[in-house]
Amino acid sequence: MHDALRAQQITDRVWWVGAIDWDIRDFHGYMTGRGTTWNAYLILGDEPILIDTVKPSGKAEMMARIASIIDPASIRYVISNHTEMDHSGSLPDVVRAVRPAQLFASQMGAKGLPAHFDVGMEITPVKDLETLTLGGGTLTFVETRMVHWPDSMFTYFAEDQVLFSSDGFGMHLASQQRFADELPAEVLDQEAAKYFANILLLFSPQLTKLLDKVAGLNLPLKVIAPDHGPIFREGLGEVIGRYARWAEQKPTMKAVVLYDSMWDSTKLMAKAIGEGLAEGGADPRLLWARGCHRSHVMGELLDAGALLVGGPTLNNGLFPTLADHLTYMKGLRPRNLVGAAFGSYGWSGEAVKLIEETLAAMDVELVQEGLRVKWVPTADDLLRSRQLGLAVAQRMHEVCTTRNGAIHR
Ligand code: FEO
Repeated sequence: MHDALRAQQITDRVWWVGAIDWDIRDFHGYMTGRGTTWNAYLILGDEPILIDTVKPSGKAEMMARIASIIDPASIRYVISNHTEMDHSGSLPDVVRAVRPAQLFASQMGAKGLPAHFDVGMEITPVKDLETLTLGGGTLTFVETRMVHWPDSMFTYFAEDQVLFSSDGFGMHLASQQRFADELPAEVLDQEAAKYFANILLLFSPQLTKLLDKVAGLNLPLKVIAPDHGPIFREGLGEVIGRYARWAEQKPTMKAVVLYDSMWDSTKLMAKAIGEGLAEGGADPRLLWARGCHRSHVMGELLDAGALLVGGPTLNNGLFPTLADHLTYMKGLRPRNLVGAAFGSYGWSGEAVKLIEETLAAMDVELVQEGLRVKWVPTADDLLRSRQLGLAVAQRMHEVCTTRNGAIHR
C-alpha cells in the first residue's frame, strides 16, 4: 500500500482519490493560473465504486491514493459521469488494472467513450433518473446533456447525500485543502465565476432547466463533489443559487471596455470612454487586450451589462489580439449586453466595422454607430469618445431598470 499520497475521507463512505495539478496553466485555451484538480471518488460500501477517473498525467497519483485505502483490484464498479478526457483519459488503464464487473455511463457516454479509445470492456448505459443499488449503495443518475457535453451526467449517492456533479460547480483551483470552506472566499468566488464564464456560459439556457429539474427531485444534499477544485459541504444553497444567477445574466452597471492600440490613439479613446461611462454612473473596467487573457476577460464579462470594444485597423483588418478575444467571446455567447465599437485608423479603417459586425452577431445592442477617429484623436474626438461612454451608461440605466426593476452593480 502507498502511503505518501493518501485518499481523503469526504463522508462516511466517500473518499477523494483525485490528482492535484499544480502546474497546468492552459486548459484548452482557458488560462488556469491557479492550477486545478482532477477529482475522482471512491464509494466504500459492500463493494467499492469508483466515480470518474483523471487526466492521464494524474493516473499514477490517483492509483496511489486508491491504494492507500483499498486494493485497487477490489473496485467492483466504475461510473463515468463525463467523456471529456480530463475525466476519462485514465479509464482504459484503470479498466485493465482493476477489471471491474461493470462500467456505467450515460447513454451518450456509452457511445462517446469508445469513440475516444478502446475502453477494454462493455459499457452499461444508464437512463436519466435511473436508480441502481450497487455495492450496497443507492445511486441515481441525472442526465445533464450539454452541461457541458452531450454525455454529461450527475450521480447522486443517496446514503451519504452526495451529488457527484462532474464539471458542474467546479473550478480550476489547485489546493491541498479538499473543502471549499477551508479556502479564502474571494479566491473561490473569483475562480468559480471564471470557470462558469469560460466553460458553462454558452449552456446557460440548458443549465437553468437543469437546475429546475434537480430542484424538483428534492434530493437531500449534504455534499456537492465536483470533478475540479474544492468540495462543498457548507452553503450548498448559495453554490446552486449563484449558478442560477449567472445563467440568467442580469444586466448590471459594470462596463467592460476591451481595447488594443498601436500608438495609443485607441487607448486614449478608451480612457475618454471610461470617463464618460463613470460620469453616467457605470463602473468601467478597461482591459488591454494584449495584457489580458481571453479567459480573464470572460470572467469580467460574466456580471457586466455593457461591452465596448476598440481597436486600430491593421492591414485592413482586426488587430490580432482582438480577433482572438472576439472569436472566443462570440463562441461563449454572453447575453443581455449593450455596447459599441470604436477605434483609430490611418488609411482605410475597417476594424471598427468588423468589431461592430461581431458585436451585432453576439446580439450586443449597439447604442450608437461605431466611433472612428483618423490618426491621433483631437480634443474634440476625445469629447465624442467621452460622450459615447455617457450614452452607453445612460442606456445601461434604462436596460437595468426595465429588465431588473432596479440597478444591479
Ligand atoms: Fe473537466 Fe468537461 O471536463
